Amino acid sequence: MRAAAPGRVNLIGDHTDYTGGFAMPAALDRGTEVELQPGGDSVELVSDAEPDPVRVPIDVGDPRSVEPAWGRYVAGVVAVVRPATGGRGTVRTTLPVGAGLSSSAALEVALALALGFEGTALELALAGQRAEHLASGVPSGVLDQLASVSGRAGHALLIDCSSYEVEPVPLPAGVDILVADSGQSRTLVGSAYAERRSQCEAAAGLIGPLRDATARDVERLPDGVLRRRARHVVSENGRVLAFADALRTGDVAAAGELMVQSHRSLRDDFEVSTAALDQLVDRLLASPGVYGARLTGAGFGGCAVALAEPGSPAEGWRLSAADGASVLSG
Ligand code: GLA
Repeated sequence: MRAAAPGRVNLIGDHTDYTGGFAMPAALDRGTEVELQPGGDSVELVSDAEPDPVRVPIDVGDPRSVEPAWGRYVAGVVAVVRPATGGRGTVRTTLPVGAGLSSSAALEVALALALGFEGTALELALAGQRAEHLASGVPSGVLDQLASVSGRAGHALLIDCSSYEVEPVPLPAGVDILVADSGQSRTLVGSAYAERRSQCEAAAGLIGPLRDATARDVERLPDGVLRRRARHVVSENGRVLAFADALRTGDVAAAGELMVQSHRSLRDDFEVSTAALDQLVDRLLASPGVYGARLTGAGFGGCAVALAEPGSPAEGWRLSAADGASVLSG
């Protein structure tokens, strides 16, 4: 079985998914392909992005004890899908690994399909998210996997993380998606991510679900840190919906301005930016033809995303919005 799944870039709406808010990613024309010949009682894979092969028994116990480390994602998927037989095969990827473009989600989704996973796109995304939790121990949301399974060429995806509804919204003509790497690896991402998530939950415990909270509710929070975290989430949810409207009406200048506001909120209120990401975003914004730029994904390093006029000299990869995961051959 041969299956492929794309990475994703989040255009706007970060740290909103795990409190049931809104996000607007696009699946990318870069991704991961898994080819597997069924047989045996373990899953054995080599990857063109990793020096060492992986061998995971189909009755694997704790995925986090697997070596080499990339095998933990393989083990997470095996532990969730529980295939009756294993297989031998290859992983090929066109995604930079660990740069915040969801290389792990692409691997999880492509491998689950190659192992014969059957279910809806949403069930596939939730299985991938579960595998990610087992592999990394990080309580991540479903954004990455849902974007990878739901991609539509030429479209951004408006995701409602309460109902898991996904609405593809066409990207206006004449807009390039640029993704630039800060070069800073995201080492703090695990513990700081979990801390941010629990701060959001603490805020919700005081003022109710952040998705329904207003700016006024947020200002009632007595603790300054919780207030800033909640202010980011509540204002970011509003920006996502406004960004979707701006795309629908082709108002790329307004969309770009919302990205700039989103970066400031992630920097000042959610405190997940870094000096390297701030400088990268400033450089992008100073380049001719750039409508807006922001950090993308969890932060603490990784990539920034920008929307720009075609032909803009701004740094970064020019990427396109692509279709979601699929089985390529049986
Ligand atoms: C990571 C997580 C997602 C999401 C983003 C931040 O990519 O895997 O679930 O929370 O961070 O928006």
